[in-house]
Amino acid sequence: MSRKEQKEKNRPVILRLFAMIGPTRFVFVGALIALALSIGAESAGNLIIRHVVDNVIIAKAGLKTFALWAGLFMVMAMVRGILNFLQSLGKSRTSEEIARTIRDRVFDHLQRLSFSYHDTNKTGELIQRSTSDVDTVRRFYADQIPGLANTLFLFLINFAILLTLEWRLALFSVIAIPLIILLSWFFFGKIFSAYDKFQDHEGNMTARIQENLNGIRVVRAFARQDWEKENFRRINQKQLDLGYRLNFWDSFYWPFGHGVCGFQFAATVFVGGVMAIRGTISPGTFIAFSSMINALIWPMQELGRSLKEVSKSYVSFARIAEILDEDQEDLTSAALTRDSNVQGKLEFRDVSFHYVEGVPVLDNISLVCEPGSKIALLGATGSGKTSLVNLLPRFYDYTGGEILLDDKPLTHYSRHFLRQNIGIVEQEPFLFSMTVRENITYSLNREVTQEEVEEVARAAAIHDSIMKFPKGYDTMVGEKGVSLSGGQKQRITIARTLLKNPRILILDDSTSAVDADTEDKIKESLEKLMEKRTTFIIAHRIQTLKKADRIFVLDEGRIVQEGSHEELIGREGFYREVFDLQTRMEQELQDELSAAGAAKVLSHE
Ligand SMILES: Nc1ncnc2c1ncn2[C@@H]1O[C@H](COP(=O)(O)OP(=O)(O)OP(=O)(O)O)[C@@H](O)[C@H]1O
Ligand SMILES: [Mg+2]
Repeated sequence: MSRKEQKEKNRPVILRLFAMIGPTRFVFVGALIALALSIGAESAGNLIIRHVVDNVIIAKAGLKTFALWAGLFMVMAMVRGILNFLQSLGKSRTSEEIARTIRDRVFDHLQRLSFSYHDTNKTGELIQRSTSDVDTVRRFYADQIPGLANTLFLFLINFAILLTLEWRLALFSVIAIPLIILLSWFFFGKIFSAYDKFQDHEGNMTARIQENLNGIRVVRAFARQDWEKENFRRINQKQLDLGYRLNFWDSFYWPFGHGVCGFQFAATVFVGGVMAIRGTISPGTFIAFSSMINALIWPMQELGRSLKEVSKSYVSFARIAEILDEDQEDLTSAALTRDSNVQGKLEFRDVSFHYVEGVPVLDNISLVCEPGSKIALLGATGSGKTSLVNLLPRFYDYTGGEILLDDKPLTHYSRHFLRQNIGIVEQEPFLFSMTVRENITYSLNREVTQEEVEEVARAAAIHDSIMKFPKGYDTMVGEKGVSLSGGQKQRITIARTLLKNPRILILDDSTSAVDADTEDKIKESLEKLMEKRTTFIIAHRIQTLKKADRIFVLDEGRIVQEGSHEELIGREGFYREVFDLQTRMEQELQDELSAAGAAKVLSHE
């Protein structure tokens, strides 16, 4: 992290957010100035009333003078209206702007977080931060800062005027203020921690709902609705308890704050009234005073509420900042800057890797893969096959040894460059809610012709199925369109990767959900496509693997066997066992089929 970034992190969140909105902050400052002027105009109105009472009405100065002052009062009211309009416009502009900026920033940041960050952070929680927390921040600018500024301006402006009118009464009118501030501060602390817990738990709850919806089929298939319901009820109940605790302080604060303010108001008006009767102040001053202490004291009780909202916003700021401060994946920096002439030679030298310190996943892997050759990986589930190929596009960085691409360490290439040159068909196919065509062309950032799309779709043996969809290539995938089978999804993801035309191709169990016939078809067309590229195939069927130039058998992160198909079936070991088992099963199937066929023929005779 650069020093600049570190400095940015250490700045108070409120300043960081303020800096984010750029020039719009002048609009915000403008809105606050308009607010101050409007309050000033209101107080000036009170002074006009004072003057009219003392010098026009009591002094019987005549109707004309009175009308003049009344006119001025009206003009002031209009000016106040305009100022209020401006400040309201300004603050909503700023708050929407900051919400947009933060949403953009968070989204942008989420695009570039490391794979391991996503491994450990729940999606629902991240969604909540980019929506609910951003909204809290928006309200901070739309309501809380203007609210606090309102209280402050009302206090300062009115208090200053009161001091000039009658300083003793002015001082008397604010005796209770320190008590209110103290109370609000105490309240602020309580709410801060309660809201942090509340929001954290809400994140959990969102994540729970999201996961439940993602896994709705599993829930139904195992008839676990009741268990899920009970589980959710518990989480929801906790949310209620936390919400209750949050609002408890609210109910406690209000009557107290209201009482103190009311007492202060009544006492001041009483003292002012006594002073007026004794002639210490004029009746006009008394009236102006009453309005002004009204404007000064009552907003004070809002202080607690504003501080409460501010403390909520602070929690949300912190939650958003946590994402923004997370280190991003470095996509571009590289010791080697070169154009895209990858030969495709890959070498693993004593490579080891772990996700979690102390739990090795790959252990001393060494293998060489010549440009254009085909490597196959076989191994029990959890043996580390996916982890091994995920190191190539640098989804994760290896923790020991060295991987070389064209004889240069992999870490010397930028992630961006590697991902451009390595095509990976992931084990779990994922398609977006877009059309089939958009899903296939997703891998390229340019216009793609229909011919190109069809060519790769044919190679992945999915073209014919797509043509049977209601709108062919324009059919939507997912909720708004067709639901695809596992095999269809896999084949579309293969087409997507083929379209990218990468130098290095990785097929991670990509035909597991495809029947043997279709797999043969894919294999045939892939053979041609694989000719010139380095290919890694992970599969469980020997039939899929046997043509590879070199086959590696993995067991608990170690290579336990290697060789060509012929070499490996000639030796004792895992490969031979799997081969024998699969051959026997196929043979039995064949026998059963021919027996059934013979029976059919017999019954027809
Ligand atoms: N993101 C991850 N974080 C932590 N551990 C992981 C992660 N992904 C995989 N593992 C662990 O690493 C080990 C190897 O997993 P991997 O997915 O590489 O196996 P595999 O050989 O591809 O299995 P399969 O044939 O089932 O696909 C497993 O023990 C697994 O629990
Ligand atoms: Mg795997």
